[in-house]
Amino acid sequence: MLRFVFAEDMNHIIGNQQQLPWRIPEELAYFKTQTMNHQIVMGRKTFDGMNHRLLPGRETRILSRQPLETYHGAPVVSVEDVLNQSTDQIIDIIGGSEVFEVFLPYVDVLVRSVIQETFEGDTWMPTIDYTTFECVSQQEVTTKNQQSIRYEIWVKKGSI
Ligand SMILES: NC(=O)c1ccc[n+]([C@@H]2O[C@H](COP(=O)([O-])OP(=O)(O)OC[C@H]3O[C@@H](n4cnc5c(N)ncnc54)[C@H](OP(=O)(O)O)[C@@H]3O)[C@@H](O)[C@H]2O)c1
Repeated sequence: MLRFVFAEDMNHIIGNQQQLPWRIPEELAYFKTQTMNHQIVMGRKTFDGMNHRLLPGRETRILSRQPLETYHGAPVVSVEDVLNQSTDQIIDIIGGSEVFEVFLPYVDVLVRSVIQETFEGDTWMPTIDYTTFECVSQQEVTTKNQQSIRYEIWVKKGSI
């Protein structure tokens, strides 16, 4: 099963200058809970933006076209490697934009956090046709700093 785990603002912004446009500890904690013990796949640029920090408790894989076996300690994978594995385990695709675009035709579940604000940014979530997904869970929370986040889970119709 392939899942996208992502956070976006109200204009679908997800990144700015190789970083997240916001710093919201509660959202990072939610991301951690969602992805813990899963294999996570991210694009080479997202990993660069994280200064190649490996996230504890998660098996990190880097999507890159470079002919490398590993990149700063994490195995490099191809799109085919990911799709072949996703038949028998949960794989969390965690971005960024290019990588979401590549896996969009194959994704089964969207774990989406919508931050109820607008931010400066240079990277957007690709357009997703939500009519092909069913929203199975939705929860609105207010953070310590009075920011509103809507946590949603969407399942591709007919996939599970
Ligand atoms: N808000 C969120 O949830 C969230 C999540 C993650 C990231 N982000 C943000 O998104 C931004 C980065 O996104 P991005 O779109 O610029 O880059 P990205 O998707 O992280 O990485 C792009 C790289 O992935 C590799 N790649 C892409 N398509 C491939 C394919 N078909 N086969 C093999 N490798 C492929 C290439 O690496 P090579 O050039 O090495 O070949 C490409 O340069 C940052 O600002 C980051 O903070 C936000």
